Amino acid sequence: MKKLVIANWKMNGQPAMAEALTRATAAQAAGFTQAGVVICPPAPLLMQVGQWLAGTPVKLGGQDCHTRGEGAYTGDISAELLKNVGCDYVIVGHSERRAAYSESDVLVQAKASRAILSGLTPVICIGETIKEREAGRTQTVVGQQVRDSIPDNAMTTGGQPANFVLAYEPVWAIGSGKTPTVDDIRQMHQYIVSVASERTGHAPEAIMVLYGGSVKAANARAIMATPAVSGVLVGGASLKAEEFCGIIAAV
Ligand code: 13P
Repeated sequence: MKKLVIANWKMNGQPAMAEALTRATAAQAAGFTQAGVVICPPAPLLMQVGQWLAGTPVKLGGQDCHTRGEGAYTGDISAELLKNVGCDYVIVGHSERRAAYSESDVLVQAKASRAILSGLTPVICIGETIKEREAGRTQTVVGQQVRDSIPDNAMTTGGQPANFVLAYEPVWAIGSGKTPTVDDIRQMHQYIVSVASERTGHAPEAIMVLYGGSVKAANARAIMATPAVSGVLVGGASLKAEEFCGIIAAV
């Protein structure tokens, strides 16, 4: 399966920077068949970034979606709206949202379900905090998140590629410059694949698990070459054209 490199711009993207970054990413990804590249800008930039990306292989994604298709939910964005402006992906359950808005696995599952219904591929984020890791609970916590965050409409109907992507982002590795060892990453990804396979009925090879947390050009090659790593979800380094292009090149 083709690897996936996803840029999560989070709440960043002033106009000049957004255009330069989008164009640099598109240029780097042009004619590049080893990996799919996705940009997830803040919602107000989706249409504009989508226009800059027209005719390029780079796909567009949202950073969150509501559980409903439409309605009186001031400030929220539905998966349908994302689909209509050209998104193919949406991140759900990012640890920043789980922490800041107390998003539970139940809510994340409902968002992922809606995303699938709307024709988007949800990128379901999971990962342990430093406290959980130090208490030796990493697998328990992450296994539970995987089981409870994947929706029922992600179950296999036989031989289809999985209609969801998982992203393992240890909370303590996000924006910290720290990463687990590649051996840790391999073990966790293999564990996540096995739990997700059991939960959904998809073959292990059909399940993509991205790694996220302090990925940069310098460590991307080693991380991407790790067994059971299907790609990367990049925050800070996706805001610097040279770094992000370096990560794409590392595939
Ligand atoms: P950093 O790459 O800045 O550590 O952020 C990772 C992340 O949260 C991507 O979703």
